[in-house]
Amino acid sequence: MSEPVNVCVTGAAGQIGYALLFRIASGQLLGPDRQVHLRLLEIPDAVKAAEGTALELFDCAFPALAGIDIYDDARQAFDGANIALLVGARPRTKGMERADLLEANGAIFKPQGEAIAAGADDDVRVLVVGNPANTNALIAMSNADGVPRERFTAMTRLDHNRAVAQLAQKTGTAVSDITNMAVWGNHSPTMYPDLFNAKVNGQRAWDVVGDESWVADEYIPRVGKRGAEIIEARGASSAASAANAAIDHVHDWLAGTADSDWVSMAVPSDGSYGVEEGLISSFPCRCSGGEYEIVQGLDVPAFSQVRIDKTVNELKEERDAVGELGLI
Ligand code: NAD
Ligand code: LMR
Repeated sequence: MSEPVNVCVTGAAGQIGYALLFRIASGQLLGPDRQVHLRLLEIPDAVKAAEGTALELFDCAFPALAGIDIYDDARQAFDGANIALLVGARPRTKGMERADLLEANGAIFKPQGEAIAAGADDDVRVLVVGNPANTNALIAMSNADGVPRERFTAMTRLDHNRAVAQLAQKTGTAVSDITNMAVWGNHSPTMYPDLFNAKVNGQRAWDVVGDESWVADEYIPRVGKRGAEIIEARGASSAASAANAAIDHVHDWLAGTADSDWVSMAVPSDGSYGVEEGLISSFPCRCSGGEYEIVQGLDVPAFSQVRIDKTVNELKEERDAVGELGLI
């Protein structure tokens, strides 16, 4: 039997951690025949809660779970990591300005990037979930000397899944009838879910919907503000759907995307579609053999371009702000 895959999860005692760890341990990330060893990272005050979750994981007697270690030190936690899920982050609290939020998260993601560079396995793949996810990924990537930049990704798969579900509901189709969804840009309300390239039963979604004002005034804002809608309804941010999206993201990255389809992933731009190189922006990506590539040659009409420019400009502002703070 091959060696267990070391999966490091930060923020393990949080809401997403609680929804995520059981799915990883049950084999939904890498398949039921692949052993996983969980390496959990928490802040010291939350280590006891993470230990409680570990007791429950043990009690599930998952055949794929090879072991669990819990740390409050990033260098130890990322040592030998093959997959790193960076979920723990500093939430925005009352009175906190955006620069304060970026600085507080810089204090988390800069040392975590350094720790990944210091000790993670050569094949490490990183998904940043903690918000602001794209810019936190940029900070970690910029501080991980020697780790290939393309290994750092941020999560827009939840936005992708939301965009698929809303489109299926509008068109009276099944989610499995929707393909080629692309969410562009930042994981923030400026993100752009693109119905020019998405398909409903093989037909261009824009044509099937046939209602520009619904797309512009209802669909795009609803997908973009879905996170806030859930916070308003639950009194807490999305957790099970976020964990589900994290599983989808890493699963598809490693196992590959279906022929002629793609998924949305925030990845370091190579300059495709005019997105400034190095920004971690969401693109339609195809995955095969554990690698991803940005899908080329898609239709980007003026309706899309103006919205992609807006969300990418927001990413540039965040990049400039963390640059001024000396975090990248
Ligand atoms: P939570 O507050 O329930 O849990 C966060 C956990 O992170 C806590 O247990 C905390 O102790 C831990 N933590 C804080 N700093 C840490 C550090 N330096 N190292 C290790 N652990 C640390 O939050 P949650 O609901 O689990 O959400 C986690 C993050 O994911 C938030 O930033 C949230 O906004 C974000 N999120 C992103 C998406 C997305 O689509 N990208 C979706 C939902 C939530
Ligand atoms: C989401 O999209 O559900 C979250 O990113 C919202 C949040 O601010 O935590």
